[in-house]
Amino acid sequence: MGDSPSRQVTSTQTAPHDDLERQLLRHAQTPFAKPIAAYNREAFDVAAARLESIERPLILDSGCGTGDSSRLLAYHYPDHWVVGIDRSADRLSRQRADTPANCLLIRADLIDFWRLAHGHGWKPIQHHLLYPNPEPKPRHLKRRFHAHPVFPTFVALGGRIESRSNWRVYLEELAQALAFHGRASRIEPIPADEPPMTLFERKYRASGQPLWRLISDAL
Ligand SMILES: C[S@@+](CC[C@H](N)C(=O)[O-])C[C@H]1O[C@@H](n2cnc3c(N)ncnc32)[C@H](O)[C@@H]1O
Repeated sequence: MGDSPSRQVTSTQTAPHDDLERQLLRHAQTPFAKPIAAYNREAFDVAAARLESIERPLILDSGCGTGDSSRLLAYHYPDHWVVGIDRSADRLSRQRADTPANCLLIRADLIDFWRLAHGHGWKPIQHHLLYPNPEPKPRHLKRRFHAHPVFPTFVALGGRIESRSNWRVYLEELAQALAFHGRASRIEPIPADEPPMTLFERKYRASGQPLWRLISDAL
């Protein structure tokens, strides 16, 4: 997947994919039964043990990359847990010493982590999905989280959802997928004078790209 930082997304797809509704229906009807990998279970257990040690509201930062947004959220919400999850050991290894104590950065695959979190009754009050890999080639639709069999679990986790992207079509599809599951959302441009929340946002901004966010308020 192209996560080349400063290049604008180009795609032959200029509107939500024609096949998205069919995928959503299929995934709503068929339970996702792929076995959970041991390393994801171990990572989840480490996070769960920390969270159980002190009761606090939970914020998830899924696909946190270097964790800049997780740290920012943790500073902003000192009485909450912020759990940033990313599968890239390389990105997470760029963690800094100033990561606050209420911020956990975990290496795991979201496809398993979300199912574990849901299975253990986690109820995040906020769920951030910032600059997910857009997978803009139409034939790669199924790689996008909303067209993946795990999506019903992502929705079931609940909370206020915020996703950001430099490809508006991605967010339009996410909005369609959330609506399929009964959740309203809105898409708005991110004001250019807002300080960037993530490393990718900073790079996209520096190259002058328009950026959008989708917000779905908690039910
Ligand atoms: C484009 S980067 C954005 C990173 C960060 N949110 C930012 O804005 O700087 C997408 C991130 O999602 C992570 N990612 C993609 N698929 C994932 C998965 N299935 N599980 C965990 N992380 C994933 C990648 O490793 C990468 O760090």
